[in-house]
Amino acid sequence: MTDFEKAAEGAKMDFAKDMSYGDYLGLDAILSAQHPLSDAHDEMLFIVQHQTSELWMRLAIHELQEARRVMLAGGLKPAFKMLTRVARIFEQLNSAWDVLRTMTPSEYTAFRPSLGNSSGFQSHQYRLVEYLLGNRIGALMALHKHKAAAFDALSAELAQPSLYQVAIDVTCARLGIASLAGLPGEGDWQAVPAVQDMWQQVYQDPKAHWELYELAEKLVDLEDYFRRWRFNHVTTVERIIGFKRGTGGTSGVAYLRKMLEVELFPELWQVRGVL
Ligand code: HEM
Repeated sequence: MTDFEKAAEGAKMDFAKDMSYGDYLGLDAILSAQHPLSDAHDEMLFIVQHQTSELWMRLAIHELQEARRVMLAGGLKPAFKMLTRVARIFEQLNSAWDVLRTMTPSEYTAFRPSLGNSSGFQSHQYRLVEYLLGNRIGALMALHKHKAAAFDALSAELAQPSLYQVAIDVTCARLGIASLAGLPGEGDWQAVPAVQDMWQQVYQDPKAHWELYELAEKLVDLEDYFRRWRFNHVTTVERIIGFKRGTGGTSGVAYLRKMLEVELFPELWQVRGVL
């Protein structure tokens, strides 16, 4: 017996009648979903990079929805674990830019016409993450009118309080102060003073409000990694297309730079200046 045969002795080799690794993971569907539209070598990188990002976003949505459900049911600790996992997902996505950065402008230009008007701007999962967290720009729903499933998922999300709103509700309830429901405005990234005051109470006495303090820091951590994703994206985009317009039709880098100003949880950042 070779060393390999000894190590692998007993391994199941026949899957004619049993579920295999590929069956369980649906690999036939996943690995046959790459369809480059040009002969350019680098289009495969571009496709795989987007598809893997979408898979990680799928997991992020799964975690964020459950974190919100658990928080609504009064459990903060299990939600912390999920929020940490989402921050790690973004860390993972941040490292992934290093692979895409190996593509030069000339390489991208070779297949850019094949993309037509398609752009990550139309990623319904990305929008769902933003809506879930609380950055709710309803006007962007128009991008998804043509796809009922995506439109319905986004509409269903907008009909619920965002994760940040739930965090605020839980905090108000635990501090025994009046509810601040509905305060953060749509498409408006300014801090709401009453919400900032609420977080200030938490930060001024962490020992008395340890779980809320931990919740606040978990949210800041998540946004920290999310911001790095936005920054890495815009830097990669500038490196690859400079200041050309995006395939999605926006001004490109100028639009993405504006999005760097988004604050998902503005009060949590503002409160730092008054502690
Ligand atoms: C060569 C690489 C890339 C280029 C040149 C690029 C370019 C752009 C541009 C110019 C925009 C602005 C919208 C537009 O007019 O198209 C945009 C938006 C976006 N891209 Fe990319 N992108 C790249 C890679 C990626 C990857 C790998 C992802 C991962 C899913 C991604 C996700 C997004 C998302 C979610 C938006 C919307 C951002 C928002 O609305 O705040 N992009 N991209």
